[in-house]
Amino acid sequence: MKIFSSLDEFIDSKLHIDAFVPTMGNLHNGHLQLVEVAKKNSKNTCVSIYVNESQFTDKKDFDSYPKTLDADIKKLKDTGVDYILIPEKRDIENNSEGFDPVLEPKILTNDLCGKYRKGHFLAVMDIVHRFFQIIKPNIVVLGEKDYQQIVVIKELIKICNHKIRILSCPIIRADSGLALSSRNNLLSEAQKKIASEIYKSLVLASSLYEQDSSPREIEDEINIFFSRSLIELEYFTIRDLKTLQQPNDNDLIALIAGYLGTVRLIDNIIIKSHLR
Ligand code: PAF
Repeated sequence: MKIFSSLDEFIDSKLHIDAFVPTMGNLHNGHLQLVEVAKKNSKNTCVSIYVNESQFTDKKDFDSYPKTLDADIKKLKDTGVDYILIPEKRDIENNSEGFDPVLEPKILTNDLCGKYRKGHFLAVMDIVHRFFQIIKPNIVVLGEKDYQQIVVIKELIKICNHKIRILSCPIIRADSGLALSSRNNLLSEAQKKIASEIYKSLVLASSLYEQDSSPREIEDEINIFFSRSLIELEYFTIRDLKTLQQPNDNDLIALIAGYLGTVRLIDNIIIKSHLR
């Protein structure tokens, strides 16, 4: 495994990266699963660790984001990843073009999480676009917990004509159902138990759908569910699986975001898929 803390050295090495796993560090089993999938499907894998400040819409959220570089490197070493890239902001900016904000697909980026985190997805598009230019991978591996992010990056690839294929990995959950996330480290054990209500609500949504409830009826039930919870619901909605636009006859996904104290949690579940 080779660690590049210098972007110049990475670029000078003229590597041909097959699979790229972008991360912001504080790695958990969800990330390690992405690396496993990357390794299985490629000739070599590069993981980036870079906490992109501009995608945090709340300064406190950025300040409290757990930074665990030594532990992250150790975990990656154990997975047998080929390259780790830990670049500096200035070097990234000097070696890539930013994403042109005029091209932002606002119908997607200002909706759902983007409605509550103004500028978040534009900042994600920008950093991922920069990484794509620098790393030039054939494949990018992304986790389905950040489902909207996958759809946004798919759009980025289309808009900028990157020749990159997305491999997406199912959500990894704790035994309680809580989706693994770096932010879970900010929760006490008691809070983690409460946070698992997010997944329980998604299972409820899925079973209501099986019983022929309409998306509107399911949304009403989930609002009632959270009126009795310590979790403050930001949004729960059912959308088209591919486009994230309003539901229609196609495949469907239920998406949720909520706060437990100051910790923002997101999750989702596919409730209708022609593949199942
Ligand atoms: O999902 C993340 O960790 C980040 O949004 C990403 C893709 C690494 C961009 O900073």
